[in-house]
Amino acid sequence: MLRTHTCGELRLDHVGQTVTLTGWVQRTRDAGGISWIVLRDRYGLTQLALEEGVESAEVREQARHLGREFVLSVTGQVAERYSKNDKLPTGDIEIRVEKLTVLNPAKLPPFLIEDETDGGDDLRMKYRYLDLRRNPVRQNLMLRHQMAQAVRRFLDGQQFIEVETPVLIKSTPEGARDFVVPSRMNPGEFYALPQSPQTFKQLLMVSGFDRYFQIVKCFRDEDLRADRQPEFTQIDCEMAFVEQEDILNTFESLVQYLFKEVKGLDIGKLPRMTYADAMRLYGNDKPDTRFDMHFVELNDVVKGQGFPVFDNAELIVGINAHTCAHYTRKQLDELTEFVKKPQVGATGLVYARVDADGNVKSSVDKFYSPEELQKWSAALGANPGDLLLVLAGPAHKTRKAMSELRLEMGQRLCLRDKNDFSPLWVVDFPLLEYIEEEGRYFAMHHPFTSPKPEDMALLDNPETIGQVRANAYDMVINGVEVGGGSIRIHDRAVQARMFSLLGFSDEEAKAQFGFLLDAFEYGAPPHGGIAFGFDRLCSLFGGADSIRDFIAFPKNNSGRDVMIDSPSVISGAQLKELSIETKVAEKK
Ligand code: AMO
Repeated sequence: MLRTHTCGELRLDHVGQTVTLTGWVQRTRDAGGISWIVLRDRYGLTQLALEEGVESAEVREQARHLGREFVLSVTGQVAERYSKNDKLPTGDIEIRVEKLTVLNPAKLPPFLIEDETDGGDDLRMKYRYLDLRRNPVRQNLMLRHQMAQAVRRFLDGQQFIEVETPVLIKSTPEGARDFVVPSRMNPGEFYALPQSPQTFKQLLMVSGFDRYFQIVKCFRDEDLRADRQPEFTQIDCEMAFVEQEDILNTFESLVQYLFKEVKGLDIGKLPRMTYADAMRLYGNDKPDTRFDMHFVELNDVVKGQGFPVFDNAELIVGINAHTCAHYTRKQLDELTEFVKKPQVGATGLVYARVDADGNVKSSVDKFYSPEELQKWSAALGANPGDLLLVLAGPAHKTRKAMSELRLEMGQRLCLRDKNDFSPLWVVDFPLLEYIEEEGRYFAMHHPFTSPKPEDMALLDNPETIGQVRANAYDMVINGVEVGGGSIRIHDRAVQARMFSLLGFSDEEAKAQFGFLLDAFEYGAPPHGGIAFGFDRLCSLFGGADSIRDFIAFPKNNSGRDVMIDSPSVISGAQLKELSIETKVAEKK
């Protein structure tokens, strides 16, 4: 070892000892007769002192030429500080430097390596290895490490076996596009990178592994957002001989364990909400239940008073923004602008204020008498001082827009505290989802998900097929989908039927999933599982909005790694070797 101690370790107990520390220069300060260097490593900061007449002239001269981020080795005696720093664990001591070696000089970093940096996002990503020297970023990765260890401990304790599945595979239909890799040895053929190890974990159940998990990279070529990366990590799990209830209980315990171990929090039992209720009450299959403000459908209350917007609407829905009756015209205009944004999609906003005496004044008083408005107030459970916000239009669009407005109001009212955690299960998802543009049904979770046995009969009728529910569930925390899974089909005939419902011909199903259909003929046990988005879980635990902060080397919003400059063009020779037409390279 080039050091005897770390920069976070020394205390008053060590005073008098001669130690050697290594690390990076955080900063230097020269006050004439005395100068200080703060040395940093992963473990902390330690002050080095160099006083005229105490430290040798040679050492003082060397120290004069140091810059930020130089890599040093220093040997000296631990001394009690004259003026202590109670903000620093090592703040009671300093090192009186006897020997100083520059292990490597450093160029001036392009941004400040401090908790609060002056570096913009792009610059920090280009020099991510410097960004990772900063405390907050390193702490995020340490939290991630702690979480991964806790996951392994828990699952190992529950008899789960960690198995690695391949990365060069064939397309699995999880709903996103695949990243593909050309095969040199098989000209014109491609591997796909796994969107998840879904089929492999099911095959492991057929193999009798009984309980599997893997902390595994998954790849999806989809549009990126704060909670989506093209490569991300799942805690992927599967169990045999279980029903939905067993899976919910097992993974509820995992999440309870993580909260307890990592955050010291008891989250208690997770409530369950059906998909239908989540959509009805929150307009969203991942409701943020840190606050209430749920939807109230007002069709029966507001129709028939001659207001065409409401009379012609499929759905009229309201929320009660408690204590917001004082909102100014400007604030209400802001909310109207908000709901009209294309990503929110409403055509306008109707509001009504409940004054201190309980009288209601609305933006549509022309159509609604005070008596009628009292009905609104009653339906929304309003009290004096409340503000009622109402949207109308096609049901699906209006629910989506109201969901956005509800979240915005939650934000404005500070009801979405990052230190407050509200996990729940959303259950009973529909099996299929009709995609208008494609004119056909898609699997809402994935094609291996089992319909609820009691809904099987509904599959036979085109009229009722959309009503079939799946044994599928999501875990949602603070409005983020942190995990999702299902009980799988394990019967060959049912799986073949599902492929056919999803528009696969027998040949296509055989070509793409013949291996799974075959496996189901060799004794497949009933099984099911779940996968958690590990990056999302970490960012929630760390109180961050973006999962990028919890990934060591993330991609930017265009899917680029700006540090290594990837993706990048490859040579014509390489393309030729891969039997890919060189036109691709020329295009760039
Ligand atoms: P699903 O597609 O729901 O299920 O994915 C599981 C969880 O992975 C996380 N996730 C992502 N995180 C970051 N970036 C992304 N691009 C991204 N996409 C998904 C989410 C999500 O809940 N094989 C099934 C699981 C199963 O059925 O067992 C699957 O992958 O938190």
